[in-house]
Amino acid sequence: MVNLKTSIAGIPLESYFFNASGPKCMTLEELLALAASNSAVVMSKSSTFEPREGNPEPRYCNLEFGSINSMGLPNLGYKKYAEFAPLLKVQTTKPYFVSVSGLKLAENMEMLKYLSEIKDIDALELNLSCPNVIGKPQICYDFDQTREVLREIEKVAKKPLGLKLPPYFDFVHFEEAASIINKHNIAFVTCINSVGNALFIDPEKEVVVIKPKGGFGGLGGAYIKPIALANVRKFRELLRKEIQVIGVGGVDTGVDAFEFLLCGADAVQVGTTFQKEGVKCFARLETELKAYMFQKGYDDISDVKGKLKTL
Ligand SMILES: Cc1cc2nc3c(=O)[nH]c(=O)nc-3n(C[C@H](O)[C@H](O)[C@H](O)COP(=O)(O)O)c2cc1C
Repeated sequence: MVNLKTSIAGIPLESYFFNASGPKCMTLEELLALAASNSAVVMSKSSTFEPREGNPEPRYCNLEFGSINSMGLPNLGYKKYAEFAPLLKVQTTKPYFVSVSGLKLAENMEMLKYLSEIKDIDALELNLSCPNVIGKPQICYDFDQTREVLREIEKVAKKPLGLKLPPYFDFVHFEEAASIINKHNIAFVTCINSVGNALFIDPEKEVVVIKPKGGFGGLGGAYIKPIALANVRKFRELLRKEIQVIGVGGVDTGVDAFEFLLCGADAVQVGTTFQKEGVKCFARLETELKAYMFQKGYDDISDVKGKLKTL
């Protein structure tokens, strides 16, 4: 029997896979469906201070090798995700993580403080990398702002705290981001958010495929897997060993997850594939990863984690 059990911030997880914040995790009904699925965690949609409608539709499009979206953080507001916590715990013993994505530092502070007091929330993931809020830059591309945000939020977050990072593309940026994160009490980083501001075109109709921002949106799925793998690998190399790394970006098969494992990911999240396939993807991915590891003679994720070879 291949063992896919892992843990994040000391919280035991039954398997290596759970949902990425975003797809199908906004309403109580969707969160209950995750609770009943093989997802190892119930992760909420990124919550803001006030409820949000998000950007005009169409704002999501399935693509052959992934997806493009500019949702603009539609969500029910952070208080709802706190209210849902005890309701979810009636249905499941699995951990509940709440994603937080304030539009201002003061909002993030207030939300993290409030959510830290809710018993049935196990961890918080602070999204510092949403590419789709019109007029708001991705915080983690501004290192001065990142420094300030981490200094302040550490004072109020009393639950295990993760950071959702954008993709970086330059070794100097990886080093700078890691050196800032290493100075703070961060339990995990989640690499990567959608690759921001991509443009997908329908050449036949000569038109873009989503409405907000003239068609520019965040790219997910197979298109971005090599970028996500690079970010996991680099952050695993540069972060203090106590800070865990969760991989996300293009996990569509068990072999994709195996690649993240080789790069050192402690768990992986699933976004586009979950959006396209629904909750049954989690059981499929588990079966596929177990089969692939079995075929290679591995019993446990620790046999493979971080063991990528170089030439
Ligand atoms: C429809 C959609 C909505 C998303 N919303 C969020 C969000 O609210 N918060 C967040 O941190 N990431 C969000 N993301 C990004 C995903 O969590 C994930 O980082 C990205 O899609 C890459 O993973 P994938 O290739 O498995 O889709 C969203 C992605 C999609 C496709």
